[in-house]
Amino acid sequence: MTTATITPVLQGHDLVKTFGRVVALDGANLELYPGEVLAVVGDNGAGKSSLIKCFAGAHTPDAGELFVMGERVEFKSTNEARRHGVETVFQTLAVSPALDIASNLYLGREQRKPGFMGKVFRTLDKKKMRQDSAQHLKDLGISTLQNITQAVETLSGGQRQAVAVARAAAFGSQVIILDEPTAALGVNESARVLRMIQDLRDRGLSVVLISHNMPQVFEVADRIHVARLGKRAAVVTPQSASMNDVVAIMTGAMTVPVEEQQLTPVR
Ligand SMILES: Nc1ncnc2c1ncn2[C@@H]1O[C@H](COP(=O)(O)OP(=O)(O)O)[C@@H](O)[C@H]1O
Ligand SMILES: [Mg+2]
Repeated sequence: MTTATITPVLQGHDLVKTFGRVVALDGANLELYPGEVLAVVGDNGAGKSSLIKCFAGAHTPDAGELFVMGERVEFKSTNEARRHGVETVFQTLAVSPALDIASNLYLGREQRKPGFMGKVFRTLDKKKMRQDSAQHLKDLGISTLQNITQAVETLSGGQRQAVAVARAAAFGSQVIILDEPTAALGVNESARVLRMIQDLRDRGLSVVLISHNMPQVFEVADRIHVARLGKRAAVVTPQSASMNDVVAIMTGAMTVPVEEQQLTPVR
């Protein structure tokens, strides 16, 4: 199978983003194909978070073009990106610690009671939200969250991450972007989040996974996008490149010619 004829679910072309004199993105490109896990790796400050924030609607690029399913988009907000099926779990988790799991899942898209009470008094349908939340978590294979009414501040790091991922995955989205989801997690919790990512892919979603953890990246990624100095330095696969190769590209010790950056083995 060649990916050349398939329309990417997400595509960024020549994206530029500056903050004063700091150039976060310097003509960055990205393609995410249907049903794949694309890992985005790179040193601190390489522009990984800035890149995905453009797709998430959190940043407006200074220049360059964004496409979702081949359609040119200009997102003004994260809600607008969501409406296009792009859900993002940011590096700084967007969960509300004091609210319970169900309320977190429905934050910003609360369900109202049917009929008069919901329409006129905007009464929340808490029971339905709890039932649906429990089902969503079950669908995602998250069995460690026993009590849907538990406040999120009482959960472990991995469970919070699970809530954030569940929130992102629960609403008919096509693309899930995860910015360093396992950075603060232990081994078991990380394994659970990785399994969740594989489950999402198996359900046909496309996933962007930003990570520093090479073994994790090589375990779950179909392709690996290497970011360096605000640009894409290479795209490799776990089959075509070794972890040492990827680190060498990240640090600039190895360079890949532009015309060979797509899927081409670096050895
Ligand atoms: N909101 C911001 N204001 C100023 N500088 C920023 C901001 N966001 C990112 N940067 C800078 O842009 C560069 C890329 O940052 P970032 O995209 O967060 O990189 P990464 O996620 O790869 O570590 C860094 O030099 C960072 O300091
Ligand atoms: Mg980052």
